[in-house]
Amino acid sequence: MANWAEKHKKLERNVTLLGVAALVTVAIGGIVEIAPLFWIQSTVAHVEGVRPYTPLELAGRNIYMREGCYGCHSQMVRPFPDEKERYGHYSLAAESMYDHPFQWGSERTGPDLARVGGRYSDEWHVQHLADPQSVVPESIMPKYGFLAKRDLDVEGLGEHLVALRRVGVPYTDEAIENAEADAIAQGSGEGDTAAVTARYPKAQSRDFDGDPTRLTEMDALVAYLQGLGTQVDFETAIPQEVAE
Ligand code: HEC
Repeated sequence: MANWAEKHKKLERNVTLLGVAALVTVAIGGIVEIAPLFWIQSTVAHVEGVRPYTPLELAGRNIYMREGCYGCHSQMVRPFPDEKERYGHYSLAAESMYDHPFQWGSERTGPDLARVGGRYSDEWHVQHLADPQSVVPESIMPKYGFLAKRDLDVEGLGEHLVALRRVGVPYTDEAIENAEADAIAQGSGEGDTAAVTARYPKAQSRDFDGDPTRLTEMDALVAYLQGLGTQVDFETAIPQEVAE
C-alpha cells in the first residue's frame, strides 16, 4: 500500500510522466469510443420505406434551401407528448439518413415540417406559398409566388445524384441516367411515371402547381413538401426497439 502511494507521489510530481500517463489514459477511452465506428456499417438502423429522394423532390429540396425556408422551419419532431400530438410520430434517425445536409433544428418561427406531406392539398400549398396571409391571416411567412413563374432547371440533376451517391446515398446507375426524365415525368404526371414509382416507391406523380403546361420551381417544391414524412408507415414498419 505504502509502496503504491510512494509511486503515485512520483507520478504526481513529475510533469512529463504525469502528462504521458494522462495521455495514455485518455487515449484508451477515445479508442473504446471511436474504434467500433470503423467496423460497423452504419450507426443508423435502416427502417422499411426510407428511400432516397426522387430527382424532382431533390430539386424541390434545393429550392427549399436556396430560399432559406430552414431559417423558420425545422424538420425534426422531438419525442415529447406535445410535439407528437401536434406533428405525429417523433422523427427517426433513418428518416433523414439521406439528407445532405440534414434539416434538423429547434428554431421554429413556423411549424415543424417533418410530417407535413399529405396534410394539405397541392392547391393549399400553392396558395399558401404565393400568399400565406390569404390562408392564415396572422402568418408572418414571406410570399413565394415567383416560384410558380420560374421554369424548373432539370439540367444537371443526374450529376447531383452522382454527388449524393459519393456520400452514401444508394442511387443506381439507372436512376442517375434517367434523373432528368424522371423529374419531368413526376412533375407532369405524363410519360413513364411507372418507372418513377418503380425506382422510388410511393413517389407521387402529377402536376403539382396547377399549371400543366410547364414544369416550374413551384412543382418541385410542392412535390418535396408533399413527400415529407410519408415514407415510413408507422403502423407496420417500426422495428421493435423504437416502437412506443
Ligand atoms: C419568416 C419565417 C418563415 C419563412 C422564411 C418561411 N416560413 Fe413557412 N411558415 C412560417 C409561419 C410563421 C407559418 C405558420 C403560419 C402559416 O401557416 O402561414 C408557416 C407555415 C408554413 C407551412 C404550413 C405548415 C403547417 O403545418 O401548417 C408550410 C408548408 C410552410 N410554411 C412552408 C414554407 C416553405 C416551403 C418556405 C420556403 C420557401 C417557408 N415556409 C419559409 C414562417 C416562415
